[in-house]
Amino acid sequence: MRISLEETVAKLQRGEVVAIPTETVYGLAGDARNESALKQIYAIKERPANNPLIVHIGSIEQVHAWASEFSPLAQQLAQAFWPGPFTLVLPAKADVSTIVRAGEPTVALRMPAHPVAQQVLQQTGLGLAAPSANKYTQLSPTTAQHVENGLGEAVAVLDGGACQVGIESTIVSVVDNQWRLLRLGMITEAAIAAVAKRAASTSEQALPKAPGQHLLHYSPKTPVQLFASREALLQAAESAPNSALLLLGEPEATASKQAIYLPNQPAVYAEKLYDTLHQLDALSMQQILIELPPHAPEWLAIHDRLVRASHKLN
Ligand code: TXA
Ligand code: MG
Repeated sequence: MRISLEETVAKLQRGEVVAIPTETVYGLAGDARNESALKQIYAIKERPANNPLIVHIGSIEQVHAWASEFSPLAQQLAQAFWPGPFTLVLPAKADVSTIVRAGEPTVALRMPAHPVAQQVLQQTGLGLAAPSANKYTQLSPTTAQHVENGLGEAVAVLDGGACQVGIESTIVSVVDNQWRLLRLGMITEAAIAAVAKRAASTSEQALPKAPGQHLLHYSPKTPVQLFASREALLQAAESAPNSALLLLGEPEATASKQAIYLPNQPAVYAEKLYDTLHQLDALSMQQILIELPPHAPEWLAIHDRLVRASHKLN
């Protein structure tokens, strides 16, 4: 069910949940201070209670409402990467609901860049808990249609077009003057290290891990196989004609209907990745064969999502 910005604001203020666009993926949003809204989010996603939610905020100043500590390093990172596809995990204030942080002593905060998300945040004045608007372990949505296909027509969706970053935010935890990467995203480790003027901490104890980062995540229903070379992939496709293909580069004239090509450019590839996997999944073939992009830093987050997409249940 598509709803307007005004209806979205009213629903969120009443403690209801609405799927909203962000520049990374659509989020299933609810008032992060309203435990009934938080419970609805977990219930609709069928998400385990030990997997915490990201709180979306409308300005850097709002960090102080959620975090007990906003160190100079965390401030530098926020200044550099907000608004944008970047999440900071910081020590939580005592009054932050244990539901939103899944019992962790920390809270995850992000200021999104999507103009529609910003309008929702400004007009509600709320901090919005918003995990990706998909069922637990399924592919994340990058269009309003994906949300409806995955969660059903009963969920209210604010349509803001297709997401332009296309994969989930980079998550970084900061304690004092150390930082650690908890989830790969399009903001790279090198970019963060350059702003932080120091490398990521390698200490295992010092900083929290990201709960809920199960390997089985972001998966299409069709089994996925990854290939390091085009040659190996085409060989596999020959012996299994009932395959859908995701290939890298410019489409060839002879390309089949079951093949989708994504350009050899990480930002464009990421933007289109989930939509392409949704499309290939909808073909209901026996398997999806994927040609892996190069092993280079700017492709790492995409590799991470492809490996997760290929992970099997048993
Ligand atoms: O791009 C994104 O981050 C999207 C959009 C909607 O903003 N949101 C998103 O949320 O990907 P979700 O729920 O699918 O992923 C949130 C992840 C958790 O699985 C967990 O790994 C990490 O964020 N996280 C959240 N709170 C945390 C905390 N207090 N400590 C450590 N990790 C946390
Ligand atoms: Mg998710």
